[in-house]
This record gives sequence, structure tokens and C-alpha cells, in this order.
Amino acid sequence: MSQERSYDRSMELYRRAIEVIAGGSQTNSKRPTAYALGAFPIYAQDAEGARVQDVDGNWYVDYILGLGPITLGYCYPEVDQAIREQLEHGIIYGLLSPREVEVAEAVCEMVPCAEMVRFLKGGAEATTAAARIARKYTGREVILNCGYRGWADGWAAQNTGMEGGVPNCLRGVIDGFARNDLDSLEAKLEEYEGRVAMVSIDPATGGEEVPDGFHQGVRDLCDKHGALLMYDEIVTGFRMAPGGGQEYFGVTPDLACFAKGIANGMPCGVVCGSQEVMKTAIDDVIISVTYGGEALSLAAAAAVMRIIRDEPVIDHLWSTGARLMQGFEELGEKHGVPLKCHGYAPMSSQTIDYEDAELSRDAWTLLLQEMATRGVLLRRGGLLFITYSHGDEEVEQTLSALDESLAVIAEAVDEGTVKDLLRVTEVQESFRSFT
Ligand SMILES: Cc1ncc(COP(=O)(O)O)c(C=O)c1O
Repeated sequence: MSQERSYDRSMELYRRAIEVIAGGSQTNSKRPTAYALGAFPIYAQDAEGARVQDVDGNWYVDYILGLGPITLGYCYPEVDQAIREQLEHGIIYGLLSPREVEVAEAVCEMVPCAEMVRFLKGGAEATTAAARIARKYTGREVILNCGYRGWADGWAAQNTGMEGGVPNCLRGVIDGFARNDLDSLEAKLEEYEGRVAMVSIDPATGGEEVPDGFHQGVRDLCDKHGALLMYDEIVTGFRMAPGGGQEYFGVTPDLACFAKGIANGMPCGVVCGSQEVMKTAIDDVIISVTYGGEALSLAAAAAVMRIIRDEPVIDHLWSTGARLMQGFEELGEKHGVPLKCHGYAPMSSQTIDYEDAELSRDAWTLLLQEMATRGVLLRRGGLLFITYSHGDEEVEQTLSALDESLAVIAEAVDEGTVKDLLRVTEVQESFRSFT
């Protein structure tokens, strides 16, 4: 099944891109250097269902899926039809769109904590709005956060290693605590007693399963200390359950944010919560974006929620993810490669853990390269996203590609030739002058 693939057009475009796009891409996690530059596709030109085609004409079964937004599949007919129909009637107006009401009602029906919503355009906008609402509602300033919430100043101030350009003064109003650790959260709530507006967490990450009782414990601690609880459901939403992680774990936060899974790739962010809390966003608070009511994305969101409600989408994500996790672990064992899967089946993560960290890193790069050669796109470490369009054929192709790729890795590790097999290329920016 291995097939030499050319990435020449991708590489040519990327060489042009790094001269005119700072960092080469619009999303840090999509930077080609994070994959296997030179031995992995870079630019896509087409996609359908579970598959994507690169600009060199190669097709792949895709598990990167825009980093999570594609939940039903690329070019999903009913969603695309909904977008097309709306397009006939305009994209955005000075007047409001009835879609705003339709989608708001659908979110309130589907998501346990949602009694009122606001629409924005992406994850960082939604989480930033949630922080503002929580601060206004409680009259407090500090946010205790565990996890990535987007690129905005207020989140990047949290010692993320990405604080360049972020005002120092913000550091006093955001702090972290250890993942899945109630003692760590309680200690921080006590340290900032009476000052914490909001505790924000992901209901689940790909990395590990949440300990029993953790979510109820966080809810109780927030109530005890008068802080609002916000779930960032940007990855878990419309993926773990129709109503997200809060439905799956049975604990209701005060606020929640959604983005990736809600519109099958169209840009739509949501902050939602109880009426009492959300009404804070009406007066004397600025949460206002030109494109929040943009109707193409809302038409897509309405279609996505209808399909999730009426069809076994979520069951499919769980069962297909579980087959892949089991297959990955069995094939890892078969070849003696320490490949493990973690977390939850619709969005699991993977590790390759040799004792030597450099070997683990190189083995990952080789895995990305070998899987791409065999027509499957993985992301280093996961998350292994699944869509409703990943069927038996895609699962079989993936596991067969993995079987062959792990055989290559096992032999290379035995013979000490992992680095020799990497076809990865260095690409230098030349900082061309436009004067
Ligand atoms: C959990 C989580 N929150 C927030 C964000 C930020 O979303 P966006 O990139 O749409 O601003 C992301 C993006 O990866 C995310 O995974």
C-alpha cells in the first residue's frame, strides 16, 4: 500500500508562504514544521467525507480535520445545502437574521447550561466573552484556568510560555492550577479568597480520563467560593455528547463556550449560560462583533445540530474512535512499538514512549511520514479526531497503513536507522525585502 508521493507543489507554495505570511500559517498548530516537513502534505485543495486531497493530487484519510471543527465530514451534503440556500438570500445584514433566533433556541435545547447565548466567530472570542461576563457578574477580577483558551491577552498572560507582547499587569488576574487536581484548585481558591470570578476548565482533554467525582468537586468548590464555573467545550462540544462534556459528565456549569464542532467548519463561536448570568452581557459591558449574526455559519450550525439530534452521529464518533484506539494499541504491541492511546474515543491522544525522548520524537516524525505515504494523515500526539463520515473502509485503510508503518519503525529502531529514514527538509526564511 506504500506509494511514493510527491509533495513538490506543497513545498513550492510553502517556500512562497514563509516570505509573506508571518510564521507561514494562520494557526500555530498547523505549521508544517509541526508535522514532517518535506515528507508530509502541506496544502489541501479538495476534500470529501473523511478524505482530503493535497495540491499534488494525493488523497488521504484525514484525522486532523481542521483541528476539530469537521465533525460530520467534509462537504457534508445537508450542511453544504443549508449554506447554499442561505447564500441565495444574503450573508449578513444590517438587520438581524432569523437564523440567530433559530440557532440560539437549538443551542438552548441541546446544551444543559444554556438558557441564553451570544454568537461570536471563534474560540478565543467566546472564552474572552465568558471571562468578561464572569468578571462583570461577580464584580471580581481573578480567573483560575487550566488549559488553552485561545490567543487573547487575558489568557496568554497565564505563564503559557507565549506571553510575548502581553501586558504584565494582566498576570495578576489570571492563574493556573493542576489538571484534574481538586486540591490544587482549592489551594488557589483559598489563596485568592473572595477575588475569583471564574474557574475555567475543559470538561475533558485528549490526554487522560477525568477522575470520578472531579467535575462535581469543581462545581462544589466554585459554589463554596462564589466563583462561576466555565466549561470550555470548544473540543468536547457536539463531539462527546450532543450537549457536550457537561451532558456526558452530568455536571452543569454557569457558562460554556463552543466553537469547533458546532458548524462543521464554518466559523461560529458561542458563549452561553444561565439567563441570570448571561443578562450581564446586555448593559454596561462591551461584547459586540460585526459578524456574530453572519447567516451562512448559523445556517450550517442549524443543520449540524439537526443532524446530531436526529442521527447517531455521537454514537458513531465513539464506536469508530474506540475501534481505532483498540487497533492502535494492538498493532503497537504486535510490533513492539510503545504506542499508547489515551482519553476519550471521539478525540483520543496517542503517545510513543521510548526511554530516549529524542527517539520518541523521531519515531513520531517517521510515523507521520510513513502514514502519509500510505494515505493517512495523523497529528503528532493526536488528537485523533473522527467524523460521522469515517466508515469501515477508512478504519481498515488506517489500521493496515499503521501495521506497515509500525513494521518500518520497529525495524528502524532495532537497526538504529530512524533518523536515516526521515525525509524531512529544512526550509529557511530569507526575509526578502520589498523595498
Ligand atoms: C479548548 C480550546 N479552547 C479555545 C481554543 C481557541 O479557539 P480559536 O482558535 O477558534 O480561537 C481552542 C483552539 O484550539 C481550543 O482547543
